[in-house]
Amino acid sequence: MRLVLASKNPHKLREMAHILKELGLEVVLESEVGVDVDVEETGTTFLENAALKARAVMEASGMAAIADDSGLAVDALDGAPGVYSARYGSLKSDEARTAHLLEAMADVPAGKRSARFVCAIVCCLPDGREIRAQGSCEGEILFSPRGENGFGYDPVFYVPQLQKTFAEAGEGEKSAISHRGRALREFVNAWKETTTC
Ligand code: IMP
Repeated sequence: MRLVLASKNPHKLREMAHILKELGLEVVLESEVGVDVDVEETGTTFLENAALKARAVMEASGMAAIADDSGLAVDALDGAPGVYSARYGSLKSDEARTAHLLEAMADVPAGKRSARFVCAIVCCLPDGREIRAQGSCEGEILFSPRGENGFGYDPVFYVPQLQKTFAEAGEGEKSAISHRGRALREFVNAWKETTTC
């Protein structure tokens, strides 16, 4: 079965395609099936936004569609940047958004810098069925960036379990415990349950 990924991001395609292959699912970008929908992320939760994206692409393509929505929730900032992670401070680059985050947390002492990455995945099937999954990963926000890998807020997200930031971790090491890796594995189980009943 083919699933359309409601995203224009080839990095997400690579991460998802790898895990979903084991279910016999081939994931393709919306551009590969001639679909180009710009969905406004008006939801207040990651699940709502993922559902908005998956539904819109399923309706536009007539095919099963999968979407994810993710972000960083910092306790000292009451959960910000949260669903606004990709547009935090209306800034255009990962580096600028990360610097903005560090500035906002300049007065937050060590020990009070807990945060988590959250990822929600929703898959909409043309017959109306919807499969949902969510994953999170706990960590702490450092005072300055460390590491060259990954993207987004990875260089300031320190994971005690790894004793390094996500940007210092390898790809496999990250996805073994990351919010996206966990959400995808939960999705795999939910898919098996839904499609066998
Ligand atoms: P979206 O899920 O494409 O709407 O974007 C989520 C935003 O959250 C990204 O632009 C990043 O800023 C941030 N984010 C989500 N997952 C990660 C991650 O694994 N590492 C670093 N930043 C992330």
